[in-house]
Amino acid sequence: MCGIVAYIGNKPALPILIKGLRRLEYRGYDSAGVALMCDRKIERLRSVGKIENLEEKTKDSCLSGNIGIAHTRWATHGGVTEENAHPHFSTSGKLVIVHNGIIENYRELREKLKEKFEFKSETDTEVLVNLIESHYDGDLRLAVEKALLHVRGTYGLVAMHSDEPDKLVAARLGSPLVVGIDEDEFYIASDATPMLAYTKKVIFLEDGEVVEISNGKMETFNLKDESVTKCVEEIEWDDEQAEKQGYDHFMLKEIYDQPTVFEDAIRGRINMGDGTAHLGGLNMTDDEMRGIERIILIACGTASYAAMIGKYAFERLAGIPTEVDVASEFRYRDPIVNDKTLVFAISQSGETADTLAAVREAKRKGAFVRGVVNVVGSTIARETDGGSYIHAGPELAVASTKAYTNMVAIMTLYALQFGRLKRITPATGQRLIKALLEIPEKMNSILKQTDEIKKIAEKYKDSRDFMYLGRGINFPVALEGSLKLKEISYIHAEAYPAGEMKHGPIALLSPEFPVFALMTKNQLYEKTRSNIEEVRARDTKVILIANEGDENAKELADDVIYIPPTMELLEPLLNTIPLQIFAYHMAVLLEKDVDRPRNLAKSVTVE
Ligand code: AGP
Repeated sequence: MCGIVAYIGNKPALPILIKGLRRLEYRGYDSAGVALMCDRKIERLRSVGKIENLEEKTKDSCLSGNIGIAHTRWATHGGVTEENAHPHFSTSGKLVIVHNGIIENYRELREKLKEKFEFKSETDTEVLVNLIESHYDGDLRLAVEKALLHVRGTYGLVAMHSDEPDKLVAARLGSPLVVGIDEDEFYIASDATPMLAYTKKVIFLEDGEVVEISNGKMETFNLKDESVTKCVEEIEWDDEQAEKQGYDHFMLKEIYDQPTVFEDAIRGRINMGDGTAHLGGLNMTDDEMRGIERIILIACGTASYAAMIGKYAFERLAGIPTEVDVASEFRYRDPIVNDKTLVFAISQSGETADTLAAVREAKRKGAFVRGVVNVVGSTIARETDGGSYIHAGPELAVASTKAYTNMVAIMTLYALQFGRLKRITPATGQRLIKALLEIPEKMNSILKQTDEIKKIAEKYKDSRDFMYLGRGINFPVALEGSLKLKEISYIHAEAYPAGEMKHGPIALLSPEFPVFALMTKNQLYEKTRSNIEEVRARDTKVILIANEGDENAKELADDVIYIPPTMELLEPLLNTIPLQIFAYHMAVLLEKDVDRPRNLAKSVTVE
């Protein structure tokens, strides 16, 4: 997820662009850049790191002009370097764009363009700008429309061309773009945040729409160059709310991001025809993959619970013995690791010291070591010999939600890739892919229940203890739910395999020690149901996560959250969401600092 800002009007553009980028820093902060139209020539400045680095650079520059585009990057293709920073010029140096999104077919497009165009960066965006140039014959809007007909993937882009110095053209498919209107001045941005200081009158571009702004006029078209009528809306958010897209906290925004970023995680990595997945970053030959006899997943906290779910996927789909190790334990237990072992380091930040130390230990012992990481160019991403980025976008709340979901998604895809190489049929792979493609819609149906879940939280907000129960693949989900509750509401929460309660922990239960249990319809449903009956017999309050239509659930619980069914292997992608929402509302009701809970940090870079 990146941040785009553009301006065309009668004020100096640079201060507007820099201030706008600062409002979008939450969307990405690997690198930033600006390009301005100065007397029919485009001048550009870029810098790695935070926006203040770019701002420093502009102070020594002679950048001027009242038309410009700007970008803050969250790297998806290509490392964190100045060369990869936006804006990107076409080879002629007359056309420049900023882009947010993923061009899936950029490699094949680059092959077609490389005869006539030179590529200096590793980005898909530089391919896109030269594709537009290849269609340019004096009309920038038409060139953008023609080029986008050849693109697969997502984009929010703004372009300007020195042969049409009083014009901006923007287009949207899958990545948001908002146009702010203030008489004959126009602001374009990834969201409303950068323009609220100037105007609250906006239009929201829809997918497949192109907008041309020139000489104080704005017109909107579709990709067939047919005119589209747009209605001007009024933004009610204040600045701070806008940064959170209107959500009260980043955590809630990131919970709601999950359907979209899940699609980003699997986009371009599945092949329905062959019933398989292909994650290019694995950097292993088929023979090396077939030779793997053991997988170890190392991580901390929430990432370790995602890893526990990955264990089920690798063992069920690929038949490879898989173990999960908390990183801080792995390095001190003298792990038995060799060149037939594949170690995955799973980390949102890519900077967790314990996980990084475990990576170094595993490499020292000769294992294949790969990363499943969110932050591009992070230390773990750089020190592993390959792996995949989870494309969750910046996750700013300390409590991890969308990164966890995408970690599970990526490990499921890896398990499918190994499984299809070793033992599962195309039909089995296709069934899994079909179920994966249904996940975003099912996530959305759960997110619609937020108000009902909030009502349940209101009933339990005075609880001082909570027990989370799950069996099989839902035990790691119970662990994740208990961690979410304890880390943001500070309520004591434990998690156990439901079958373990009768071996001691059930002694804890009482009417003041409620249970949150996962009882979705899988192979362990009846067993779990018996465990819940044992709990109920101790006069304990029970909240159940159950599948739609399960009439038994009402008899077993004080409160039931019904969710859509899915394949057992994919249940954590859905079952975890109500637990995230419940923990969020408990923390809000208790007036805790949801995004910045006490004693915690987003990235634990100390051992
Ligand atoms: C989860 O909500 C916590 N923020 C914490 O457990 C986190 O998952 C853990 O510190 C690992 O962080 P990483 O994924 O950045 O390595």
